[in-house]
Amino acid sequence: MKKLMKKCSKLRAVYWELDQLHLLDQRLLPNKHHTLILKTATEVAQAIKDMVVRGAPAIGITAAYGVVLAAKAAYKNDPNNWQTIIQTDIETLAKARPTAVNLVWALQRMQTKITNNSVAILLEEAQAIQQEDIDANHRMGELGAALLPENCRVLTHCNAGALATGGYGTALGVIRSAYAAGKISEVYADETRPWLQGTRLTAWELLQDNIPVTLLADSAAANLMKQQRIDWIIVGADRITANGDVANKIGTYSLAVLARQHNIKFMVVAPTSTIDMNLSSGDQITIEQRPSEEILTINNLAIAPKGAKAWNPSFDVTPAALVDVIVTEQAVIEPNAISSFRKN
Ligand code: MRU
Repeated sequence: MKKLMKKCSKLRAVYWELDQLHLLDQRLLPNKHHTLILKTATEVAQAIKDMVVRGAPAIGITAAYGVVLAAKAAYKNDPNNWQTIIQTDIETLAKARPTAVNLVWALQRMQTKITNNSVAILLEEAQAIQQEDIDANHRMGELGAALLPENCRVLTHCNAGALATGGYGTALGVIRSAYAAGKISEVYADETRPWLQGTRLTAWELLQDNIPVTLLADSAAANLMKQQRIDWIIVGADRITANGDVANKIGTYSLAVLARQHNIKFMVVAPTSTIDMNLSSGDQITIEQRPSEEILTINNLAIAPKGAKAWNPSFDVTPAALVDVIVTEQAVIEPNAISSFRKN
């Protein structure tokens, strides 16, 4: 646990402390910093659904701690049968959000430890998942930063930072490392409609680390690129399929198309836990549809006329051909090399 505290950026979206699961409520940021304590796996699944915690690696880590809560409760009630009892909770956790593969990946990893008759081992496994994610982020930070030129101007989308991971971040990990190395001259962040992860989370997170950031409306990115004010686009991922297609926050695909048009490099940063070798292409990824209210209202106030409908896919798929590099903790790879890439 000590190591976890030391290497983590000061921001912690999810942590286990005093034998309790804590989640920083991301729905309230940046105006309120409120931490929730979750007591049951059902509460954890609901918190993932409601976006108290979000970001592919962070929801995987949270679900792993959810298994620990389920196991503790089941063991108390029936020490001889707890492993069977918690399967319903694991199914509920797995269904909380469909697109990020890290959720089922983390649950499968927890399943391998359930055969041991020990709840303590499950907690150790959840903490190992979180620590490995932090370590992977730091490694990706180094690998990705090494690819950037001096005075690099970057654009990021959504929030792929400490708030979306065990700590430090994927896309924002690269930006943090490159900024620390003096290689970044400008960080632009899309506001990321409709949930505003860019405005509310990425800008807040970067400013916590004294990294200057300029926000723009998603629709302004094309013009920024046309004016040759961006060198690299750096984003995270929710699932990468065997052919190198990348599911990420809605709007990522448009950035990739624009980047190709304007001769701008496009980097995807994701741990190997985000690679899904079971799907051959991005067409097979389930894309989460979020509630219409996210489009039709802001802060619970209607902004659309009564009767207007909304289409609200939370993610899109960027074809491998539009991605220049995928940075994982193991290597920097070209998207079409994913199929020959083996996770250790
Ligand atoms: O809906 P969200 O906020 O969970 O979407 C998050 C993203 O799309 C991130 O870019 C992705 O999960 C990578 S986070 C390191």
